Parts: sequence; structure tokens; C-alpha cells
Amino acid sequence: MRSTEERIRYLDALRDAARQGGGPARLARQHAAGKLSARERIELLGDPGSFEETDPFVVHRCRDFGMGAPENEIPGDGVVAGAVRVEGRPVFVFAQDFTVFGGSLSETNAAKVCKVMDLAMRIGAPVVGLNDSGGARIQEGVGSLAGYADIFLRNTLASGVVPQVSAIMGPCAGGAVYSPAITDFVLMVRGTASMFVTGPDVIRSVTHEEVTKEALGGAETHAGVSGVAHVVADSDADCLLKIRTLLGFLPSNNRQDPPLRPTTDPADREDAELDRLVPQSPNQPYDMKELIRRVVDDGEFFEIHADFARNLVVGFARLGGRPVGIVANQPDHLAGVLDIDSAQKGARFVRFCDAFNVPLVTFEDVPGFLPGTQQEFGGIIRHGAKLLYAFAEATVPKVTVITRKAYGGAYCVMASKHIRTDFNFAYPMAEIAVMGPEGAVNILYGRELEKAADPAAARRQKVEEYQELFANPYVAARRGYIDDVILPRTTRFRLIRALDLCENKRDVVPPKKHGNIPL
Ligand code: HXC
Repeated sequence: MRSTEERIRYLDALRDAARQGGGPARLARQHAAGKLSARERIELLGDPGSFEETDPFVVHRCRDFGMGAPENEIPGDGVVAGAVRVEGRPVFVFAQDFTVFGGSLSETNAAKVCKVMDLAMRIGAPVVGLNDSGGARIQEGVGSLAGYADIFLRNTLASGVVPQVSAIMGPCAGGAVYSPAITDFVLMVRGTASMFVTGPDVIRSVTHEEVTKEALGGAETHAGVSGVAHVVADSDADCLLKIRTLLGFLPSNNRQDPPLRPTTDPADREDAELDRLVPQSPNQPYDMKELIRRVVDDGEFFEIHADFARNLVVGFARLGGRPVGIVANQPDHLAGVLDIDSAQKGARFVRFCDAFNVPLVTFEDVPGFLPGTQQEFGGIIRHGAKLLYAFAEATVPKVTVITRKAYGGAYCVMASKHIRTDFNFAYPMAEIAVMGPEGAVNILYGRELEKAADPAAARRQKVEEYQELFANPYVAARRGYIDDVILPRTTRFRLIRALDLCENKRDVVPPKKHGNIPL
């Protein structure tokens, strides 16, 4: 029989082996590639010393392709899993260890991932996945594929129950991309992360296209072109810090409200600059992000999808210490029109906020939907409907400020009074109408104006008449579609007061299995 000392020594040796992962040489390669190890990443993600590891002794059970050799049984089997605390709150985490068989997913390491996901669901805590893997463990065949499917199922069941965040910190290819894709937020590290369903070699042989790994699936591509990535980080450390910041805005689960963070920024702080920020000319651009930063607590705005569909700005901030989700048209980019990408971006964000009790604040300056065959052929009708559906379905507190234009269908879509928004404000410069003055006059008086003695002067007169009648907030305010016309300088105070009033809001959707959002 072994003595207690021997047993303790054995445990120490096992733990050591688990900590070593694939060994010093592979760890050195990982560092040389500019990447941290799985354990270093978890340490940076969590509050110091908070990591509670699960399953460090798990080994794979594969006996094929030489995997039965004892040196291939590495405790932990290529994924480090467990829970940390982030600002004191529990967060479940798994980090693929690229030094062990390239972080590839085996049947047993998938089971480790599933275990933390199940625990997170039971306990009601977010799941963070740190991805850095060569994909399905080739030696395990269908056992590995089954492991992926087990994870996909849990990603789906956990959606809307606990926040799920994926960081891509190395390769993530093939079907493996679909776990991050189902999660709520995908962060990618510039230079080291890549995501694609089929890589450059397969693409070359199938479509004869030449493309580099970075151009195909690097952070910039997914943040700016495909929209797969929500946030880009400059390094592993930056990525983990950004995840901590993001989690700070979110509740641990769908039954909680987001955490309050007291602020010294006064609730009644006025900002005279806001009175001048929106230009008088309806066609002159301005930066909606500046408006947002001037209004929210301490100017802190955590933007989501900053480089994708820049005509719509979404992200998290706090107002009076309360986290809010902000959705705002951006007049600085494409005049703030809604198009396919921005509608999808907005809809997904709105649905996230609604699922996790994050109130929605909408800043509106929108000339309408983007015209053109590209948009119509691409399905702007069904994609635009997503944003409308998402806002209409949302039962969280909703407050809207029309800063300038609210034209046409976009007026209805952008959290209008008619789709259950609680407080709708407008600035005195707001223009709420079916369309802009020039377009309206053309349609209504086009032929008549051609016959006028001085067509240009007659057109000007009609445009002015139209502006006088419709390009203001008072037609809507007289009907109660706008609750109040507010001075821009008072925006912060009015928003905080409105959100305070909504604190105990309880709104519902009719009982149903689930709606059928136009996907
Ligand atoms: C087993 C793997 C592996 C895998 C890498 N390794 N991928 N072992 N299964 N899928 C091992 C390597 O043998 C090597 O072991 C170590 O990990 C590091 O790999 P390298 O190739 O040396 O690293 P690097 O040059 O950085 O290249 C990384 C890589 C490349 C780009 C990820 O390894 C690669 O292309 N791997 C295969 C990727 C792939 O096709 N996977 C299957 C995709 S399909 P040693 O012992 O030398 O350290 C898929 C389907 C998912 O995943 C389905 C879900 C439904």
C-alpha cells in the first residue's frame, strides 16, 4: 500500500504534468508566436488567484494512430477548464491549450468543455471560451465530431440564459467556428487569430482563388468585412482585459439585472456643447459617438462591431451607474442610412440586450433605408425587418432620442413610440416625416413645377413650405408620438430620469414557443 507521502507526491507530479501541458519546447513556440499559454490567459481573465480548475486529470481514451503511447496521455488533454471570478462574480472558462496536440478537440476534452457549460447554466454564470486549436483531433475521428456537436447544442441551449463570450486567440477552422458563432460576442486578436470554414489551400483547389490566411479570416477581415468578430484586440492581454470590461456591463444570467456601478458623474450634468453638436443643415454630418460620449457616465462607451456597418453604432455604456445598450445612427458614415449590414448588426445587439435585461437607449438621425439594386437584391426587405422585429419584440426599458432626421420606415423601426418604446424624446431640430423635403416635393409637384415660369424658385418655395409643415418634431409631439421636445444639453438628465422610472418595468410578449424573426 502507498504511504500518504507517496500519494501526495503522486498528486503533485500529476498536477505538474497538467501544468506543463505539451512541454517547455512547445510553450516556447507558443510564446515566440506572440501567444500566451492557456493557463496564463485564464490567470489574466480572472481576479488574481481565483481560478478553480475542473478536470485537470482527464486524459483521452484514443488508442489509434499511436495515441495509446503513455507519453501521449497528457493530463488535462489539451483544454484547461474551470471557473474564475471577474470583479468578484463567477465566470466559467475553458482555454484550449495549443501546446497539447495543437489544442485539438478530443472526445474527452469536449466533455470537459460541456461540463463547465452545464455548470454555468445551472449556477447562472457567463461562459468564456478561449479558442486556440487545430480543430477536430484527427486521430479521434467521429468521437471528436460528436464532441463538437455536444458543445454546439449547449451553446444553443445556453443562448439567452447566460452570456457567452468567445475569444479567438489562434486558429479556429472548419466546423469549430460554429461554437463561437453561436455565442453572443466574438473577440479576435490581431495578427494571431484566424477563423474560416475552409482554409486558403482548399479555396485554391476548389475556386482557384489566391488568398492569405490573414486576408481570408484574420481579425480585420471579420471585424470590418464579414461582421463575424465584434471586437478586435491588439494582444492576448488586451483581449482578456476587454472581456473583463465587457462582462462588467452584463448580468450573470437572464434572471438578473445588469450590475450597477456608482459614478461620480452627476446625473444632472448639462453639456452646452450638445446644443451645437447637431449641425443646422440637415445634410451636414456629425459624429454621433461624440454625442454618446458626452451623455454617458464618465464618457465611457464600449463599442461593439466598431468597424462593421459603421452607419449604425452599437455598444454598452452606463447612465447614472446603470448599464445600457446604445443603438445610434451615425450621420458621419453613409449619412446614417440603414442597410442590410447595419440592420443585422442592430438586430442582434437589441436581442442580446433584451435577453439580458439591458435597457435600450436609441439615438436617431436616419434619412431612411439605403436605395439601390444591390440592397434590394440582397434582401434589404427581410434584413431590415430584423431590426424592426427586434425593437418591437424587446420588453426591456426603451428610451429614444430623435436628434435630427427620422424619415420614413426608419422612423418606425428605430424604437418609435408605436413599437412599445417607453419614452420618446426629440431635439428641437428634429425632422419627422415620410421623406426628405426634396424627394417629397418631386413626387407631389414634379410635373407642376416643370411648367412653372421659374421652376427653381417654385421648387424652393414648395420645399420651404414642406419644411415648415413637416420638418419639425411638433406634428409628432401634438399626437403624443413624441413625449417631449428636449434641449440637447439636458439629454443625460432626461435619459437617467426616464430609465429610473422604468426600473420596475414588466412587459410581456404573448405566450408562444418562439417567434419567427425573419432570419
Ligand atoms: C491532432 C493536431 C491537429 C489536429 C494540429 N495538431 N492540428 N493534432 N489533430 N487537428 C498538432 C500537430 O500535429 C502538432 O503536433 C501540433 O498540433 C502543432 O501543430 P503545427 O502544425 O506544428 O502548428 P502550426 O504550424 O502552428 O499550424 C497550426 C495549424 C495546423 C494551422 C492549426 O496544425 C493545421 O492545419 N492543423 C490541422 C487543421 C485541421 O485541418 N483540422 C481539422 C479541421 S476540420 P506536435 O506533436 O508536432 O506538436 C474540423 C472539423 C470540426 O476541425 C468539425 C466540427 C463539426
